[in-house]
Amino acid sequence: MTPGGALTGRWRVPGDKSISHRAIMLAAIAEGETRISGFLEGADALATLAVFRQLGVNIDGPDGGLVRVRGVGMRGLQAPAEALDLGNSGTSMRLLAGLFAGQTFPVTLTGDVSLSRRPMRRVTEPLALMGAQIATTADGTAPLVITPTAQLKGVDYALPVASAQVKSSVLLAGLYANGETCVTEPARTRDHTERMLTTFGYSIRRQGLRVCLTGGGRLSGCRLTIPADISSAAFFMVGASIAPGSDVLLEEVGINPTRVGIVNILRAMGADIELIDRRTVGGEPVADIRVCYAPLKGIQIPVDQVPLAIDEFPAIFIAAACAEGETILTGAAELRVKESDRIAVMANGLAQLGIDAEPRPDGIRIIGGQLGSTAATGAIDAHGDHRVAMAFAMAGLRASGIIEIHDCANVETSFPGFATLAANSGLNIVEQRV
Ligand code: S3P
Repeated sequence: MTPGGALTGRWRVPGDKSISHRAIMLAAIAEGETRISGFLEGADALATLAVFRQLGVNIDGPDGGLVRVRGVGMRGLQAPAEALDLGNSGTSMRLLAGLFAGQTFPVTLTGDVSLSRRPMRRVTEPLALMGAQIATTADGTAPLVITPTAQLKGVDYALPVASAQVKSSVLLAGLYANGETCVTEPARTRDHTERMLTTFGYSIRRQGLRVCLTGGGRLSGCRLTIPADISSAAFFMVGASIAPGSDVLLEEVGINPTRVGIVNILRAMGADIELIDRRTVGGEPVADIRVCYAPLKGIQIPVDQVPLAIDEFPAIFIAAACAEGETILTGAAELRVKESDRIAVMANGLAQLGIDAEPRPDGIRIIGGQLGSTAATGAIDAHGDHRVAMAFAMAGLRASGIIEIHDCANVETSFPGFATLAANSGLNIVEQRV
């Protein structure tokens, strides 16, 4: 990464990761064919797709974001020949634990080193209340060994942490359970599962923070268009906001109200962001997002924005490092159990660039300043975390010298082609494969 530059142009970032996972899962257990466009061809979503092939589902693609799934119905999945490897994908593991808990065959779910460190009791505990039998390691981590149960029973579960993955896991198990399954969240989290179940014709009842469904129904194949991922767009939103002369238009980005924390937080910092031509695509609200450079100021990030921006904090921390004054984040301990400990890893990287960043148990305090370079401190270690790597890439727009970032291969999990797209839009970035 050589310093400086501005971002200009218009483009569409890849499809939404959360929605791509759910599209394959629901299409696989639906009756009839589902045609998906805009599917994310990144390693995480491809891991979910590969799993259903192993379970006997006939899937064409992805080809230019198009996928055709011949659904096998609620009871049509077949026992896989071996353990299912989900790579780096926490969403795959947690959602599939729920979906597979109600099957009639055993399944083992494994993952890479990072995924094998992430907490899984948050799903195995509520699923156990439904009668599921899922073994973890003594630490409550993967591999998950799922043994079939005669019949799951519905549950009325209050989530201890705001987690869309846990909510979705319980709801997917609920499809196979006797009676009603309800989940109450402590704060609103992304609702793609609920929206998509509705699109597949499954009845969902929502009241405030509570969502319920009754098991034993069926899903009908459909056509789905997946919006561009706001979590991928976020890097360019931050990049354009911090680099003088920038003016970008990000096309057809999902702006589900449960995902727009990045827009709200950047605007509160003074960013110039316009949502143009709001419309609905595949049951999800989308807009084109125009972002122009604007000087940013530090803020106290409102706690109610944390679940709405949970994946965007690495990028937001870079914005904070370029802002005038202090930015304080609290109520975000969840960041410590993402693909990496995003509080520690980001604080270390920012410190290497000469930024005053004080990690706290549930957040961080960042004082904006001049970003330095890694020439003196050695390369930034992204710890295999895709979003950390992309966030520090954007920091290059405002750094005083070269920034070198290591352990970035996992950028492919959510944003294939990131470096090329970023380079074409004005970032001085060179990718070196080792
Ligand atoms: C996701 C939910 C969030 C998010 C993750 C994707 C989902 O995780 O961080 O990247 O697709 O449901 P949590 O449920 O752990 O907050």
